[in-house]
Amino acid sequence: MLIFEEMAGNMSRFGSPAQNGRPAPVTLRGMTLYPNHLDRGAQEALLPELRHVIAAAPLVSPVTPWGKPMSVRMTSAGQFGWVSDRRGYRYADHHPSGTEWPPIPESVLDIWREIVGTARLPDCCLINFYGEGARMGLHQDRDEADFGQPVLSVSLGDRARFRIGDTEKGGPTESLWLGSGDVMVMGGPARLAYHGIDRIDFGSSDLLPKGGRINLTLRVVT
Ligand code: SIN
Ligand code: FE2
Repeated sequence: MLIFEEMAGNMSRFGSPAQNGRPAPVTLRGMTLYPNHLDRGAQEALLPELRHVIAAAPLVSPVTPWGKPMSVRMTSAGQFGWVSDRRGYRYADHHPSGTEWPPIPESVLDIWREIVGTARLPDCCLINFYGEGARMGLHQDRDEADFGQPVLSVSLGDRARFRIGDTEKGGPTESLWLGSGDVMVMGGPARLAYHGIDRIDFGSSDLLPKGGRINLTLRVVT
């Protein structure tokens, strides 16, 4: 369920009718949000798949290239995983422990197939875990080779305030809440828009037994 701060008096964003019983997609600053794209059953069905990935490729607490610890814990599935350490931000073909990244679960790829299509499939699924107090500063996703390919984000668990800016640093920003089951496409002119997570509303969802938020981002790296 999404909640727009600006919802009252701005219903024009909700112009098109709902389809397949789902709320209609909403566009904000060029990003397209599919609210409640995954129903509760679909969300629950993803959890064992993700636990399986995390068992094989454990969550790590990355540091920025400047040595600052990140509050979000991360791992990946797919041919590549996104990593950050003193050497920089990059895609790596192995987990920092040296193990292979597990394959992206088919049920996760199905979300991409349904929304983006089958011409290309993502070769990285970054898994971000936000515990209480975790956040992510404004950044661009620009470590991929082809910015013509979108990044697709799936939110599970506690709701999070997602901030979207411009493609230039320091421009105006707007925010919205991403709830469990929401899917966001960052593509087209918004592919290089600055974005980040201001905060999560810890304990707002009962999907994850101990609370927190999982965000999956599907990326075409090469
Ligand atoms: C990201 O930008 O990598 C994560 C976005 C999110 O957690 O919703
Ligand atoms: Fe990002």
